[in-house]
Amino acid sequence: MEEKLAIEGGPKAKTKETQGIPKYGIEELMELVKLWGLKPGTEQLVRNTLEKAWTGKSPHLFRYYHPDGDSMTRRFEMECSKFFDVPYVLATNSCTSALIAALVAAGVGPGTEVIVPSHTFFASASAIVVAKAIPVIAEIDDSHTIDVQDVERKITPYTKAIIVVHMKGLPCDMDAIMNIAKKHNLVVIEDVAQAAGGWYKGKRLGTIGDIGCFSLDHYKVIASGEGGIMTFKDEWLYTRAQSYHDTAACWRPNRYERERKEGELFAGENYRMSELQAAVAFAQIQKLDRIVNTLRKNYKKIISKLDLPETVRTLKDNDPDGGCRYVLGLLWKDKEMALAARKALEAEGIWGSTHDTDVRDWHVYKYWEHILEKKTATKEGCPYTCPYYKGKLPDYSPDMCPDTLDYLGRSLFIGISQNYTDEDCEQIAYGINKVAKVLSERKTKNQPLLNV
Ligand SMILES: Cc1ncc(COP(=O)(O)O)c(C=O)c1O
Repeated sequence: MEEKLAIEGGPKAKTKETQGIPKYGIEELMELVKLWGLKPGTEQLVRNTLEKAWTGKSPHLFRYYHPDGDSMTRRFEMECSKFFDVPYVLATNSCTSALIAALVAAGVGPGTEVIVPSHTFFASASAIVVAKAIPVIAEIDDSHTIDVQDVERKITPYTKAIIVVHMKGLPCDMDAIMNIAKKHNLVVIEDVAQAAGGWYKGKRLGTIGDIGCFSLDHYKVIASGEGGIMTFKDEWLYTRAQSYHDTAACWRPNRYERERKEGELFAGENYRMSELQAAVAFAQIQKLDRIVNTLRKNYKKIISKLDLPETVRTLKDNDPDGGCRYVLGLLWKDKEMALAARKALEAEGIWGSTHDTDVRDWHVYKYWEHILEKKTATKEGCPYTCPYYKGKLPDYSPDMCPDTLDYLGRSLFIGISQNYTDEDCEQIAYGINKVAKVLSERKTKNQPLLNV
């Protein structure tokens, strides 16, 4: 007799649901716990507790496959949206990828130029090459951020965008930049890698231009090991960046729909943030205002007590009430004074850093051989040889930005900590005044700066 199919009311061939083994169990969680370096024995206590409390469920660490639709990455993006007061936020796996996605979203590509400052981590410049455009390097001024006049000089009919970098948490001259951008119809991408939580004239850095790109790598104000944040006011830019960051918008809400508008779907990369990064970043962003507010207070305490001689001054400040303020920048009469001051301050117990421009540093354009020598991954040399590019390639050379080398060489940055007490601030100001006075007197009398 013919057996009855289950679909027609017969018995099922397989009668029991197979119980899945969770993808991420106690072992994976314990590996994370180990990262925190707990006291001996505590790890075992944690493991015992986990084993007792374990429900057999595991998290989804892929943002777009979250069972309740509310992934940690999405929560982080929504938190950032509130924090930065912008309608669209996209979390990425780094600031470098955020910059590339921002350029692509903005329509930067073959035949276009993008202006970038001479003093930034070289990722800001290499992102332009990855996006198949020509980087045009502009000077910085004595604020250590992009020189707005040089930007204007370097605009050509091929300029599509400007990347401005709030270096060391110092704010760029955003009013002037936005005016120029408006005048020449340019997209402004703020590289906020080093300035998360900072301000410019009452606005959060990263929310003034068209797109803000933040870094969450280890060295930044807040971090998740690696990671990035993109902020947008414009939905179309957000949509295009989302497409590019997610291998052609694999996981957009209506994922199998055709594009709603020309330019929405195109081949992209995978720059997605993982749920692990997002969990750490979510906790970190809760701390950001407190960190920056404390830094700004400590900075003010120190700077208000400075009494500097003529041979040294603080950097030009595009907003004395803005920035992040984890450094205080001093500009000396010459490089020799800056280097001597760093050594003298170190002996006083005050940490500072200089930019000896003769020492290789990825933050100084002079050492971006990748760009200066037009190095590319394949011998065809795209984008420098791109037939769509009708402009004149910049004359890249190590001495093409003399002002930058001058300002960098003469500057000294004193680190500011959120953990400083009032006494620390007093002593740091006292130490700076003392070193500045002695070095200045010796300079004026043409004496050796340090007797060691
Ligand atoms: C100014 C600047 N832009 C971009 C980046 C790149 O950030 P990420 O390491 O997240 O790719 C950095 C990192 O140091 C940076 O300092």
